[in-house]
Amino acid sequence: AKKKTIFDLLEMKKKKEKATWVTAYDFPMGSFAEQAGVDMILVGDSLGMVVLGYQGTVPVTMDDCILHCQAVRRGAPNTFVVGDMPFGSYQVSDEEAVRNACRFLKEADADAIKLEGGRRVISKIKAICAAGIVVFGHIGLTPQSSGQMGGFKAQGRDVNSARDLIKDAIAIQEAGARALLLEAIPPELTGFIAEKLTIPVYSIGAGLPCDGQLIICGDMLGLFQAFTPKFVKKYANVGEVIINAFKAYVDDVKNERFPEDKHAYHALDSKEAFEAL
Ligand code: KIV
Ligand code: NA
Repeated sequence: AKKKTIFDLLEMKKKKEKATWVTAYDFPMGSFAEQAGVDMILVGDSLGMVVLGYQGTVPVTMDDCILHCQAVRRGAPNTFVVGDMPFGSYQVSDEEAVRNACRFLKEADADAIKLEGGRRVISKIKAICAAGIVVFGHIGLTPQSSGQMGGFKAQGRDVNSARDLIKDAIAIQEAGARALLLEAIPPELTGFIAEKLTIPVYSIGAGLPCDGQLIICGDMLGLFQAFTPKFVKKYANVGEVIINAFKAYVDDVKNERFPEDKHAYHALDSKEAFEAL
C-alpha cells in the first residue's frame, strides 16, 4: 500500500474512516506493523519503558529516539512514521525544539513529530510548523509531566479540567498542528473535541468517538510486563511465547536434543583424516 500523507488522514476524518496507529521501536516491529497494514506508526518515547526498562519516559534522549526511529523506518519504508519528541528536547526554547524536530526528518526520515502539552507549548508548535514540519499534538495524560499529575492518571474527568483540555485542543489546532492525540480522557470529552476540531483527533485510552486509535505494541502484544493500563486490549501474549521457547531450548540443550544432525556442517574430508588432526 502507498504511504499515507496528512491529506489522506484528513480525508479519512471527513469520510469517518478510522485510522489505525501502533507504536514500534525497532526493525522487526516496524516491518510487522507495515505488513499488517496499519496507517501510522509512532516511535514513542514509551520505548524507554517498553524496550529500555526505565520506570518512565523522562530519561529517554534524542539519540535514543533517533536510533529507534531509524530502525523502524528501515522496517516500514512505506508507512507514515511519527517521531516522538522526548522530555527535554523541546521544553527549553523554540530554537532547541526546532533543531531537535529537524533531526527526526533529517536523520530518521520521519513524516511528522509529536510533542506533549497544550497552551504551554504553543510557541514550540508554531516554531516547528514554521520550519515546515508536520506536528501532532498530545494532551490528556502526558507521561513526561506525570510528576505534576501525581502519576499516570486519567485527565479531564471533571468539567473544569475538561474545559482546560478543550482550550488546549483548540490552541493546538490554531498553532498549526495537523493532528491531535488524546490520552486517557473520558469518551464524552473526546467526542466533543473530535467534532470541534477540523484536524484528525486520535485516542489512546480516550474512547471510541474520534478519528482513530493508537495502542502501544508492548501492551497489546504482551511484551511489557510491568503493568497494563485499563485502556489496553491484549491481542497476544508474545512474552509468554518467548519464555516458553527459551524454556524449550534450555531443555533441549540440557538433554542433548539440540543441535540435531540436520543442524551440523558435516566434514568434507574422511573420518580418518579428521582423526589424524
Ligand atoms: O510514547 C508513546 O508511546 C506515546 C503514547 C503513550 C501516546 O506517546
Ligand atoms: Na510519548
